[in-house]
Amino acid sequence: MQQTVDLVIHGGKVVSDQAVIEASIAIRGQTIVAIGSDDAMPPATERFDATGLHILPGAIDSHVHFRDPGYAHKEDWGTGSAAAACGGVTTVFDMPNTNPPTGTLDALALKLKNAAISHVDYGIHALLDEDNIDQLEALIDAGATSFKCFMGNTFGNLPAPSDGAILEGFEILARRGIRCTVHAENPSIMARRQARMETAGRADRHAHLAARPEVCEIEAIGRAIAFAEWTGARLHIAHHSAADSLYLLRDAKRRGVDVTAETCPQYLLLNTHDMTRLGSVLRVNPPIRDERHNAPLWDALVEGVLDMIATDHAPHAPDEKTRERIWNCDCGFPGVETQMPLMLTEISKGRATIMDYVRWSAVNPAKAWGLYGTKGVIAPGAHADFAMVDLAREAVIANEKLHSRSKLTPWNARPVKGVPIHTMVRGRFVMRDRELIATTRGWGQSVKPIQAMPAPRPRNTDKTMGAIVTAGGPHV
Ligand code: DOR
Ligand code: ZN
Repeated sequence: MQQTVDLVIHGGKVVSDQAVIEASIAIRGQTIVAIGSDDAMPPATERFDATGLHILPGAIDSHVHFRDPGYAHKEDWGTGSAAAACGGVTTVFDMPNTNPPTGTLDALALKLKNAAISHVDYGIHALLDEDNIDQLEALIDAGATSFKCFMGNTFGNLPAPSDGAILEGFEILARRGIRCTVHAENPSIMARRQARMETAGRADRHAHLAARPEVCEIEAIGRAIAFAEWTGARLHIAHHSAADSLYLLRDAKRRGVDVTAETCPQYLLLNTHDMTRLGSVLRVNPPIRDERHNAPLWDALVEGVLDMIATDHAPHAPDEKTRERIWNCDCGFPGVETQMPLMLTEISKGRATIMDYVRWSAVNPAKAWGLYGTKGVIAPGAHADFAMVDLAREAVIANEKLHSRSKLTPWNARPVKGVPIHTMVRGRFVMRDRELIATTRGWGQSVKPIQAMPAPRPRNTDKTMGAIVTAGGPHV
């Protein structure tokens, strides 16, 4: 006699990165215990009919700014995670450019405290900066899942660390097998160009892109890869935006550097024509570039040079986004709730398969952050984290219906085909029939990486490095 389970989901099509199969899923507590034909399912306290829906592993968004502490008027963990839940996203990774920035133990404790109201699970990217290199290990021990290094300036104006500090930080993270995300833009090129343009009186919408040309991204990605390869640190490139820097990723991966990269719907689907139309609403770092970048980024995802879709969900208040001069408008816009419908729409057009999408939205992020097996896959032993989507359902994105505190996105009035209908996090519906389940506030928990993957071998031949740090002087 089989043991009774809490829930069997039946009638849906279960999607992995390899296949789409008609199957039922049995769940006990927070965990999947069986997948198979419905007549093989154990007796269940409750059965849920998912006929007509595709059941995807919940999306993992590696890049959100939920803003609390410091900027809760833009977003907090309640509103941000509600948006995630309603977007089919079951795990988010939050960025450290809050106030205080998440670069000290106290700031991390505060971030974790504020995140406790989340509807969805979360990882915390702590800050790697000039002055906290000696704190990195303590931050890992206190629950940071990963790090973020702002090589270029953006919202929060955190200064880019020196190359020396980045290299030392990477040495430590390499030893711990922890991945570091970089915001890869070269700050001095951008600062000088912006200053020249401001002096020349330019403050129009296209000046933003002119101040942050592709070379900023090419240079910074190249430098980050050099440091990661030298130290053996795992690297993650945030919001990859330019076709011109893809070759760096392709070559580094070929050499065995553990570098992963995300791009975002805005870099795949929007370009300078949209900037002409939308202006400062679309001001974001890195900038939206011209049309020639869109197709190569898509091809790089299909090819695996880019690993995943993230959103850089970056909410701001309306007045902060719509100031007169482009330089004074805050950068970024919400995206965690619109990513899945936007991407599924492209899938419905035949640009890739639903299995590709699962690889980009769930499998690869889970692998990058050491969660695969618990998350990113629908299999016995994994968390019951699902996005149940109707691939045939058509809708129109409406800013005012989104759950983020910021209602200003570039996607307003855009038609989509393919929407999440229900979202489940560890066995509990957090969205059901397109409605947020308000009582799941606080259900989210911080993720614990389960895989201590062996770090790549460093290229470093500088035998003095460890000695400088540990022993009173260099001894070869
Ligand atoms: O446009 C952006 N906004 N890019 C970033 O990298 C940061 C983000 C924010 O925090 O607002
Ligand atoms: Zn960001």
